[in-house]
Parts: sequence; C-alpha cells; structure tokens
Amino acid sequence: MQKFLVTGGAGFIGSNYIRYLLHKRPNVEVINLDKLTYAGNLDNLRDLEKNPRYRFVHGDICDEQLVHQLAAGIDVIVNFAAESHVDRSIGTPDAFIRTDVFGAFVLLEAARQHKIKKFIQISTDEVYGSILKGSFKETDALMPSSPYSASKAGADRLAYSYFVTYGVPVIITRCSNNFGPYQYPEKLIPLFVTNALENKPLPIYGDGKNVRDWIHVEDHCDAIDFVFAHGENGDVYNIGGGNEHNNLEITDMILAKLQKPRSLMTYVTDRLGHDRRYSLDSSKLAALGWKPKHEFKAALESTIVWYVENRWWWEKLKNGEYLEFYKKHYKM
Ligand code: NAD
Ligand code: TYD
Repeated sequence: MQKFLVTGGAGFIGSNYIRYLLHKRPNVEVINLDKLTYAGNLDNLRDLEKNPRYRFVHGDICDEQLVHQLAAGIDVIVNFAAESHVDRSIGTPDAFIRTDVFGAFVLLEAARQHKIKKFIQISTDEVYGSILKGSFKETDALMPSSPYSASKAGADRLAYSYFVTYGVPVIITRCSNNFGPYQYPEKLIPLFVTNALENKPLPIYGDGKNVRDWIHVEDHCDAIDFVFAHGENGDVYNIGGGNEHNNLEITDMILAKLQKPRSLMTYVTDRLGHDRRYSLDSSKLAALGWKPKHEFKAALESTIVWYVENRWWWEKLKNGEYLEFYKKHYKM
C-alpha cells in the first residue's frame, strides 16, 4: 500500500482528486487533512466515508505537531490546502499568507524530516500574472498580482527551494481555472449557474472581457496523477485546458443552457487589480504524452446539469444555514 497525505481534500479540487485517486489506484490509502474552512465540506466526500482506504483528519496544515504526527509513515504528500478565492484575498489577506505560505512550509519541513518519497505542490497559473498576448512557459518569471497569487507564488518557490537545498522530491503543478462538481458557489461558474437557477443577478466585473483558460476538474486530477507517475523531481508543469474564454462568453453559455434571460447579467465595479488574461503553454506536459480529455462545451454543460440536479449540495451553502446543518450532521 502507498500512503498519501492529501491536504485540503474537503475542498473542490482536493475532493475530486481523492475520489479519482482511490478509484484509479487500488494500492493507495489516503489521509485527508482539512481544516474545514467555509470552503471545506465533508458533503463533497460523502460517498467515501465508509471506504476503508480513506480517513479524514480535521486539522490545520499550520499545526506543526499534528502534521509531523501524520507525516510519519506517509509516502506522498499532495498539498491542495489553501485559501483560494482572489476576492477574499483582497479583503482579508492574512489567512492567505498563513495557510498558503506558512502551511506549505510546515508540510515541506515534515516531508524533509520524514523523508517523504514525493511532494506535489498544487500551484496555479495565477503565479505568472496577466498576459495580453502569447502564453506563459514554466521558465517565465512569476509576476503575481493579488495577495492570493502572491501567496501561492511564495509556496511554489519555497517548495522548489526544498528540492534544491534539501533534495526533497518536489513536483510543482500550475493549473488553469477549474470547473466541475463540488466547486464552492463563490467562483464564477458555480456562482453564475446557481444565481441563474434562483433568478438572481449575475455580477459581471468590469467589462466582462477578462479571459481565463478553463479545464474540467477531472482533467486536472488526471494530470496530477500523470506528473506523479512521469514528472521529474524539481520540475514545474503547466496544466492548461486550452479553452480560453472571456467571462461574457461563459455567462452566455450558462444562460443559454439554463434558458434564462440575458437581463440577469449585471455589470458591477471591477475587482481591484483584476488580471486581464491568463494563458498557459502546456507543451512540456504534452511532450510527455498528457492532454486533457474533456471537450469544453460538453463538460461545461454536464457541470451545469450537475448543479441543476444537486441543489441539496449548494442551496445550504448559499442560504447560510450550512454551518448549523453541518455541525448537526457531523456531530461537531
Ligand atoms: P477550495 O477553496 O475549494 O478548497 C480549499 C480546501 O483547503 C478547503 O477544503 C479548506 O477547508 C482547506 N483548507 C484551507 N485552509 C486550510 C488549512 N490551514 N489547513 C487545512 N486545510 C485547509 O480550493 P480549490 O479550488 O479546491 O483549490 C485547491 C488548490 O488548487 C489550491 O491550492 C488552489 O490554489 C489550487 N488551484 C485552484 C484552481 C481553481 O481553479 N480552483 C486552479 C489552479 C490551482
Ligand atoms: P474566479 O472564479 O474568481 O477565478 P479567478 O481566480 O480566475 O479570478 O473568477 C473568474 C473570472 O470571473 C475573473 O475574471 C473574475 C470574474 N468574476 C466575475 O465577473 N463576477 C464574479 O462574481 C466572480 C466571482 C468572478
């Protein structure tokens, strides 16, 4: 058995990854360490609660004692745990620095001391900053422009330093914008789908022409597994979906699929420091033999249908009853 410590596994991508990993690799056991912030949600993993190869630990990656205790006997650490929403990082950056930077440091120290065989740091395309023309390669300079992306860049380079200085077998991935089931309804796609379902306004920042490269979360999980198997220690891998769209285009696709009126679109004040465009050159990963499997339009439509069919999952997150429900359900 290979023992994985997955951090932030109760969040959007982490929960999809744990499900993917347990299914793909029958010889893997997973400990999921998650603090259960507002974005952590055990509903995301309900189907795995009774899986004998899965264990949940409620805790903070900044808790050195707990992390060292858990790291003993672990083969692989995959670090998803982070504060992840740019808008929140503009209002309250503190938690981003603590979790995204200091938390990564605590995990890297534990990896070093316990001689972990692989450490995958889940970074982001946002560490490069905005690019108007062309696409970023792994060797390009990092120019993060929000407290979120700056904290992720700090962790990204700290992980690299642990490879160079101490020989910790670190791999760093920089993925583009994910979408899919179980994404907290504060991010563009789940927010707009659920607002449209409730006939609420869709708040479009600025002129709506900011561009993101979208990737289905299962493709991201698959790429992480691919670099785990085929990546070089110390290397960075861009993971792009190859689906660049501006926010107005995404909004139109959502409204069309749900047959809702364009009058729900509401232009609001722009995000401070709003990055205009993200774009990745993923040729390094392609040369190794990996490419995304999901076709964008079909994947977006099936994601929209998932939110239509799973109101139980998101309605309580939006109406604020979530915490009460959660404490009762999980007896916390
Ligand atoms: P998310 O906000 O949905 O989940 C984050 C998880 O981390 C939550 O379960 C939360 O409870 C947990 N967490 C937060 N602070 C913690 C702490 N101190 N200790 C333990 N657990 C803690 O985020 P996501 O969208 O699933 O993103 C996961 C990772 O992927 C992040 O590192 C993010 O930077 C990166 N990423 C995200 C995207 C994207 O499009 N969402 C793209 C590229 C990279
Ligand atoms: P978001 O999902 O927050 O991801 P990112 O980390 O890439 O910013 O936002 C995606 C894009 O959608 C980004 O250009 C900001 C925009 N956006 C809106 O226009 N309105 C919204 O309510 C949200 C949440 C995002």
